[in-house]
Amino acid sequence: MELKKNFVFYQLSKKLFFTLILSVFLIPNTYSQTGQELFKKCASCHHPVVDKVGPALKGALQRWKDAGEEELIYEWIQNPSKLYNSGKSKRAKEVWDYDPSVMNAQALSKDEIKLVLEYVDSYEDVAPADSASMGDEVAYEKPDDSVSFWWWVFAGVLIIVLFATMGVRRELNSALEEKSGIEVDTKRTFLTSAHEWAIRNWFVMVLLIISVAIFSGVELMGRGFQVGVYQDYMPSQPIAYSHKLHAGQMEIDCKYCHNSAEKSKHAGIPSVNVCMNCHNQIHEGAQYGTQEISKIHTAAGYDKSSKTYNLDEYGQRIENPIVWNKAHNLPDHVFFSHAQHVHPNTANIDCRQCHGHVETYTLGRVSTIDEVNAFADTDEGKERKIIKLTKPLLTMGWCIECHNEKEVDLTRPGYYEEIHNRLKKKPSLHNMIYEDEKVTPKELGGWECAKCHY
Ligand code: HEC
Ligand code: HEC
Ligand code: HEC
Ligand code: HEC
Ligand code: HEC
Ligand code: HEC
Repeated sequence: MELKKNFVFYQLSKKLFFTLILSVFLIPNTYSQTGQELFKKCASCHHPVVDKVGPALKGALQRWKDAGEEELIYEWIQNPSKLYNSGKSKRAKEVWDYDPSVMNAQALSKDEIKLVLEYVDSYEDVAPADSASMGDEVAYEKPDDSVSFWWWVFAGVLIIVLFATMGVRRELNSALEEKSGIEVDTKRTFLTSAHEWAIRNWFVMVLLIISVAIFSGVELMGRGFQVGVYQDYMPSQPIAYSHKLHAGQMEIDCKYCHNSAEKSKHAGIPSVNVCMNCHNQIHEGAQYGTQEISKIHTAAGYDKSSKTYNLDEYGQRIENPIVWNKAHNLPDHVFFSHAQHVHPNTANIDCRQCHGHVETYTLGRVSTIDEVNAFADTDEGKERKIIKLTKPLLTMGWCIECHNEKEVDLTRPGYYEEIHNRLKKKPSLHNMIYEDEKVTPKELGGWECAKCHY
């Protein structure tokens, strides 16, 4: 009896332990920001008084006022392509044509945008001396004063949970003792029984102590890793390829080029032959003329005047593969498979849920969670069933947050068979699944360390 009780208790503690650890990654880290802090979202592309990827922002509000479109500047910042496509703004068309690169949607409220615009307009007053050096350096910093705060919250919760479970046990025990006629020792204080409890359940105690230690490590590392290491990262590339042109304007399907996404771990980057399907005909682009496309021809060993390829003695094409730089990089200890997430018979998640509104990018880049959330609010985002998450892309918090939020599609083919197999292996799933109407990957084991870690 005692043994069984302890076993159940141990099982519960184990569950609690993992749930607590993982829940930490879901804690929101919000704090209210000043215009200068908010400007960091823009600083990868804008400087207040220097033209970078985007134009200098000082005086931008005045430029929109002059065009009679003061109100539209907020819509522009919140979703440039939407405003541009609506055709109602002259100014949007003007700035859109400023540069081939695109400004992405910024998840800021109107009030926050006002703060940013106030900040850039007052820029000289703030830092007159080193205007050119600002921007880049501050772009990826984030204050992390929230770390110690949440650490204390967690410690507090842990202690409360500990005392609560002990309290419940004590209550249960004395109820049991009373029922079976044993006299209740009223002199027993909370401390003596806590002490006894700790000795009897030394294993749980050790587990709790270790959990606090691991927690602090994981938490601090996790926060450290979240400081925008991946987000908004766009490496340079050998050819000025543009998604805006190919996937946006020409509406070529993502899978035409990233064709292994549904079948394998990797989505894959297209080989030069895929480009040549069209570029054996198309030798010139509107923006770069023949300059960029001839790089494709060189890589493919193609001579456009004679329309022939370089062949070796066996008649095979001699190529010089294009070496693209990777934007997305998970650490080696993580297992991630595209097939599990995008195949129609698995999670069937749209690419844009994890990569953002790629049709508006030039080169491939790691999106930011704010952009994904802004896209989720658009009509297209809703149609594509994009959900909003809070953690930065590619962090562990991001993976497990989605595994806790995203509903598994119950109508997909083969689904019941698979669930049945999983239930056979793990009967405890049964109750969890029927607790609520919604089945999430977490309930199917998507929170188990070994699913994602080698
Ligand atoms: C990924 C790069 C990028 C980021 C991040 C970005 N912008 Fe832009 N922004 C641009 C580009 C590029 C343009 C020029 C228009 C175009 O080509 O799309 C632009 C244009 C603008 C304009 C119009 C300027 C004018 O003269 O009328 C405003 C205003 C603006 N951005 C504000 C912001 C604010 C505020 C933020 C941050 C909250 C921000 N942008 C973040 C790239 C960016
Ligand atoms: C849904 C997938 C997933 C699950 C489940 C998962 N992890 Fe991770 N974990 C990741 C990813 C992705 C990273 C890499 C994050 C990064 O580099 O920022 C990571 C990183 C880590 C790191 C390195 C520190 C850090 O934050 O980068 C540790 C330690 C870790 N995981 C421990 C665990 C433990 C312990 C569990 C089980 C309780 C677990 N993970 C479950 C996906 C997962
Ligand atoms: C559930 C989130 C998710 C979805 C959905 C998703 N991806 Fe990815 N994608 C990732 C992650 C995470 C990586 C980084 C993988 C790594 O480093 O091992 C990645 C990497 C990539 C890469 C880099 C090359 C590679 O395979 O590692 C390409 C290209 C890509 N994705 C395209 C796509 C396309 C196209 C789709 C839709 C068909 C898609 N992705 C859907 C999360 C996702
Ligand atoms: C389905 C057909 C198709 C495929 C596949 C294709 N392109 Fe293109 N690409 C075009 C067309 C059409 C244009 C010309 C658009 C225009 O008029 O500017 C173009 C233009 C370009 C330009 C010139 C842009 C400019 O404005 O100067 C580059 C660079 C380019 N493509 C790179 C690539 C690369 C790299 C690949 C392979 C990964 C590729 N394309 C695959 C159809 C394609
Ligand atoms: C015409 C071919 C083509 C099409 C169509 C296309 N891509 Fe790409 N994509 C590329 C090439 C080439 C690269 C590598 C160069 C770069 O990073 O831009 C790339 C890179 C990427 C990357 C960054 C991979 C990494 O980690 O380096 C992602 C993510 C991506 N594409 C997603 C998409 C999505 C989502 C779509 C559909 C909306 C799409 N692509 C449509 C050719 C294409
Ligand atoms: C946008 C939501 C979303 C994100 C982000 C996401 N996943 Fe998933 N993942 C899912 C869904 C939904 C499933 C369930 C697929 C199914 O129906 O079996 C899943 C399943 C998995 C599985 C298989 C689990 C099992 O029980 O077999 C692994 C492994 C996995 N994800 C790893 C990752 C890793 C690693 C990351 C982060 C780099 C990640 N996922 C990010 C939604 C997501």
